[in-house]
Amino acid sequence: MEINNVAVIGAGTMGNGIAHVLALSKFSVILIDVRRDAVEKGMGYIRHNMDRQVSKGFLTEDQKNEALARIAQSTSLEGGVRDADFVIEAATENVKVKKDVFHTLSDICKPGTILASNTSSISITDLAAATPKPDKIIGMHFFNPVPVMKLIEIVRGLATSNETFEAVRNLSYKLDKVPVEVQDFPGFVSNRILMPMINEAIFCLMEGVATAEAIDTVMKLGMNHPMGPLALADLIGLDVCLDIMNVLFYGTGDTKYRPCPLLKKMVAAGYLGRKTGKGFYTYEPKNS
Ligand code: 3HC
Repeated sequence: MEINNVAVIGAGTMGNGIAHVLALSKFSVILIDVRRDAVEKGMGYIRHNMDRQVSKGFLTEDQKNEALARIAQSTSLEGGVRDADFVIEAATENVKVKKDVFHTLSDICKPGTILASNTSSISITDLAAATPKPDKIIGMHFFNPVPVMKLIEIVRGLATSNETFEAVRNLSYKLDKVPVEVQDFPGFVSNRILMPMINEAIFCLMEGVATAEAIDTVMKLGMNHPMGPLALADLIGLDVCLDIMNVLFYGTGDTKYRPCPLLKKMVAAGYLGRKTGKGFYTYEPKNS
């Protein structure tokens, strides 16, 4: 099937990054969020990140402006997805919210439209079961920062059709990403491996094994990770990390995935990482 028009639901970190790469790959994009200020903030990040690519010489000013002109904005789900051949949902990581969105989408989209979720750990089979067209539902999991990270984890739900899978794989190549096929299990592959490592780093901090800086330095210089696990947790968002640990913990029933009490305490305090200016480190407030 031919994909030209793509709707992205959710203008947060992942949604605006996904809209960014789609527009640069010449797709017509509509960025949808419930609030006007959320859409505008998302557009601000896209402009800022494209400017960064211009200053590095990866993009010309003209290419940036053409890409920005390909992104429309909407606060209406119904109006926004009407012409979409493909929808990527990057809304909040809440099962009920996502099920409602997928149920509504399957009612209002064109019959052949593929509905993908960027969920980091929620079951695609569960989301698909909330719709009358489970064969059209699939996971398309991008990584933060989306314009930089090459991977797309493509998650097959139990009922996802081969046609849907192939369409997402082809789209991933058009975005200059590398798709990897995984099956629908808690945390998929990426977060099943990454999050327990981050969680263990938080246990090390809580138990006083070392300081945050020391833990991150061990992993950067000893394992060649581009950033340490605590700095990465701040980038991802501590609330997202906790949600994913809970999906692993409750989804498998295995206590080896229990979220670290310090992670829970920091989320309860509102220390969510970069987005709130405080996590394991402190950050300057952003202007955009
Ligand atoms: N948009 C566009 N370009 C960006 C960008 C953005 N948001 N952020 C960084 N860049 C570019 C920069 O222009 C720069 O390009 P260059 O190297 O060619 O000059 C490059 O990325 C590196 O950026 P910086 O020099 O500013 O900073 P660093 O060298 O420290 O790299 C980083 C930053 C790319 C974030 C790197 O530290 C990294 O790869 N960290 C690990 C990120 C990671 O693991 N992400 C996965 C998170 S897990 C996830 O998303 C799954 C979810 O389900 C939880």
